[in-house]
Amino acid sequence: MEKKISGKAIAQIIDKQIPTGLGKLVILMASPDPATLVWTKQKQEKAAALGIHAELINYAPAVQTAAILEKIAELNHDHSIAGILVQLPLYPHLEPDRLAIINAVNPAKDIDGLTAVNQGKLAQGLDTFLPATVAAILEIIKYAELEESYQPEANLDLAGKHAVIISHSILIGRPLTQTLLNHNATVTICHEYTKDLAAFTSQADILITATGKVGLIDHKMVKTGILVIDVSTVKTEVGLKGDVVVDEEFIAKVKHYTPVPGGVGPLTTSCLMANLAKT
Ligand code: GUN
Repeated sequence: MEKKISGKAIAQIIDKQIPTGLGKLVILMASPDPATLVWTKQKQEKAAALGIHAELINYAPAVQTAAILEKIAELNHDHSIAGILVQLPLYPHLEPDRLAIINAVNPAKDIDGLTAVNQGKLAQGLDTFLPATVAAILEIIKYAELEESYQPEANLDLAGKHAVIISHSILIGRPLTQTLLNHNATVTICHEYTKDLAAFTSQADILITATGKVGLIDHKMVKTGILVIDVSTVKTEVGLKGDVVVDEEFIAKVKHYTPVPGGVGPLTTSCLMANLAKT
C-alpha cells in the first residue's frame, strides 16, 4: 500500500454504500469567509452527485441570531427536512451566539454532530452522528490499519496505540478525542496553548493536526513508522498547504500520511452524506 493515503479512494467506497432516496439537507451559512462558500458548494456538489437535494440558505451580513433561530425552529418541524447543518465560522457579530445557534438544531437532524446532545452521547460512547471531519479521520485510520481488508463498517481496535491530536475545537479535537477513546486508543490532546509541542508529537503512533499553521509539523517532530493525518487546508501563494512539511525526510520516516489537498478534504463530504443516510 502506498504511503500517501488518498481521501478520494476511500470516498468512492463510502459513496457506493449511500442509498438513494435520502431526505433533504439544508445548509445555513452566515459567514464572511469566501472559503466557507467554497466548502459549502462542495457539500452541495457531493449531494447532487448522490441524488440528494441540498438547499443553501446564504444569509446577508446584517442577519441577526433571532432570524436564524426562527429558521432552525421551522426546519426542525418540517418533516421533509432530514438534515440541518450550520456552516462555521459565523459572522463575527453572531459568534457569541455560536453554541445557542448550533444547539437549536434538533439532535435527530444534526448530521454535523455538533449539538451538545450529540457530543454528549459521543462522550458516553453512545451511537450518534460523528462530525464529518472526525468520521473522515476515523476512516483514514481504519484504512491505514486494515489495509487491503478495509471496509467502512469494519471494527477498529486501537488498544495500545497513542494518538496525539492537535486541536481542541468542537468540530475536530473534542469529538475526535471521544471517538478514538471509544476505539480504545490512548489519546493526548494538544492545542495552541501547549508548550513544547514536539515532546508530545514525538510520542505519537497516530498524529492528527488541524491548526491551520502551515509548516507547524516536520519530520524532526515525529517518530519512525507513524501515521500522520493533516486536516488543515490553507490557501497560500504557492497553493493549498496543510500543517505538515511533506519532504523527502518526512516521507522516508512515516508509514502513512495524508496529502493536502486530496487527503481528508474529499472524504468529509462523503461522510456527511453517510450521516444523512442514518437519519
Ligand atoms: N466549517 C469547517 N468545517 C466544517 C464542518 O465540518 N461543519 C461545519 N458546520 N462547519 C465547518
